[in-house]
Amino acid sequence: MTFTHRHLLGIEHLRPEEIVTLLDLADDYVTLNRAAEKHGAALAGLTQINMFFENSTRTQASFELAGKRLGADVMNMAMQASSITKGETLIDTAMTLNAMHPDLLVVRHPHSGAVDLLAQKVNCAVLNAGDGRHEHPTQALLDALTIRRAKGRLHRLNIAICGDIAHSRVARSNIILLGKMENRIRLIGPPTLMPAGINEFGVEVYDNMQKGLDDVDVVMMLRLQRERMDGGFIPSEREYYHRFGLDADKLAHAKPDAIVMHPGPMNRGVEIDGTLADDINRSVIQDQVEMGVAVRMAAMDLLARNLRTVRGAA
Ligand code: NCD
Repeated sequence: MTFTHRHLLGIEHLRPEEIVTLLDLADDYVTLNRAAEKHGAALAGLTQINMFFENSTRTQASFELAGKRLGADVMNMAMQASSITKGETLIDTAMTLNAMHPDLLVVRHPHSGAVDLLAQKVNCAVLNAGDGRHEHPTQALLDALTIRRAKGRLHRLNIAICGDIAHSRVARSNIILLGKMENRIRLIGPPTLMPAGINEFGVEVYDNMQKGLDDVDVVMMLRLQRERMDGGFIPSEREYYHRFGLDADKLAHAKPDAIVMHPGPMNRGVEIDGTLADDINRSVIQDQVEMGVAVRMAAMDLLARNLRTVRGAA
């Protein structure tokens, strides 16, 4: 099997063939999820703990559903953002949970690198459900599966990632994944929302939607992540929408069959027109949610196989 990792911490650690292995397995889980009987046994007998130190709707729900569909005992820890002021708190919590013998730990944390740190302290598989502005690997994988199913391939596509790139772990993980699969990536947004050193990523950068969207196959929109902004990054939401919000006029510059994506949660009328977001002929936003469950099932299945192999050898 071409997936030998103990944890899923970031796309940066995955080889292209490992990404393909995971997406192929996720395709099978899409079929299972569409069937009347949705139960698999890949995680039977295992304990999955979800630790979300940051708010989440779809990521937490889909990790929970994914674990339950595959037969794990799933526990959601209620983590209050106020309890995470010190690094020690995170490690202490992890050690406490570790003593309960979990097999899979799903962690979201507001600090970049926190999930990697935690993975070094526990002896179970750790899945990064988003750490600060660093990585969100299952989001990039579900986006990749959505693109592969809609476009029939995951290479040599022109893909635009638009908006608040600087604060986005979704953008970072997607840039790494889509780059590994040999796509042409364009980042579109105001210079204030571009991360420093962006030219090292092998991407093209635009501050004009009409120019940047020219001839693209995929348009990925991002939320303005105000919780990570500590100053005036944009003049006003109205002005932002006018220049960078995706509407039918701007989308007309992309290929006629270009798909529209958004990881959610969406700010309608800020980064995307609400009618366009709901247009099932262009928008694959609901497909992304569906693929999210399947990708998380595949990721946990693969990690559980490796866990069993390691334990069997011990
Ligand atoms: C994203 C996240 O939390 O990074 N949401 C998600 O997981 N679907 C993007 C966002 O919050 O804007």
